Amino acid sequence: HKLNIDPNAASKGTYEFYMLKEIDEQPAVMRRISNDYFSQDGDVKVDNDIVKAMADSDRIYILAAGTSYHAGLVGKNLIEKYSEIPVEVGLASEFGYHFPTLSKKPFFIFLSQSGETADSRVVLKQVNERHLPSLTMTNVEGSTLSREATYTMLLKAGPEIAVASTKAYTAQIAVQAVLAKAVGEAKNLKVAEDFDLKNQLALAAEGMQELVDGKEKIDALAKKYLPCARNAFYIGRGVDYAVALEGALKLKEVSYIQTEGFAAAELKHGTIALIEQDTPVIALINDPATSDLTRGNIREVQSRGANVMVFAMKDFAHEGDDVILPKIDYYLSPLLTVVPTQLLAYYASKNKGLDVDKPRNLAKSVTVE
Ligand code: G6P
Repeated sequence: HKLNIDPNAASKGTYEFYMLKEIDEQPAVMRRISNDYFSQDGDVKVDNDIVKAMADSDRIYILAAGTSYHAGLVGKNLIEKYSEIPVEVGLASEFGYHFPTLSKKPFFIFLSQSGETADSRVVLKQVNERHLPSLTMTNVEGSTLSREATYTMLLKAGPEIAVASTKAYTAQIAVQAVLAKAVGEAKNLKVAEDFDLKNQLALAAEGMQELVDGKEKIDALAKKYLPCARNAFYIGRGVDYAVALEGALKLKEVSYIQTEGFAAAELKHGTIALIEQDTPVIALINDPATSDLTRGNIREVQSRGANVMVFAMKDFAHEGDDVILPKIDYYLSPLLTVVPTQLLAYYASKNKGLDVDKPRNLAKSVTVE
């Protein structure tokens, strides 16, 4: 099949690496998603058959790999909140070995930037053998997962070249939010009708712009805390935990610093044993209900010598926090929180003189199981 790639969209221009270009493109991607998935009157626009099939289902299974899996963890929160349908998120590679006891009316969503990931294709094949409905959310029109699923929604992120995924992750979150709202409205849920997603996507675009404009500050953090680090930790609660997993993957894959993401409260159940003098710990704070608890975790690791960086939402940021995240709906906050984590990974890698776009041992699209 033919790929419709605009050569300008796939060129590096004045950027040294695609990864930074793609991080910088995220505000534009949010605006494109908003334009393409909303009508002139501000109504959410999703293929009716998809909305009907999903609204009719009693459980949604999201399957994916790598960064797309992390986007699925955020999507679960959005779909449960705004469509009120229970969601399970699985690693495609594991799901294939033990198909869970399915609900009566399952609906499958495959998240895949490339639409070619073998682990996901294996599961979709089993879904098709059972004649169950499925949707592929992908960045690549005509990709295998898109052709083999019942339905497709496009991410509209434009070609993503760097191996480490950035703009596809935020696009996956935004498009899942679109779907969550559309399905919730079809079910006449007030919570979905009241969800002003178009406005929130505009806030996301603005907030992302503010964050990428502040990239020098993140470079300075990378230079201060990461050059000698052998390991690092991300911590967060709720949706911040999902972003902690993604932030950790991003940092480890491009900088080779061993990084793990943890639910902040789990630290005390084991991981805190690994905190030594100068271990970098990045704490993510977007939820007013748990921010004091996470502040407590910060003090615990600080007292053991950790170098803590705090990325916190404006309204409950403290003096001295390293990144102030603009205000946005809590369930969409990963759209903003992830940006400084992407930048931190980028600078940690670039400052080490590594090939940011092509980390060792990794491929953009993995077509073997
Ligand atoms: C590879 C890439 C990752 C990506 C994962 C899933 O491992 O290096 O960046 O997240 O595959 O890819 P997909 O195209 O299915 O989103």
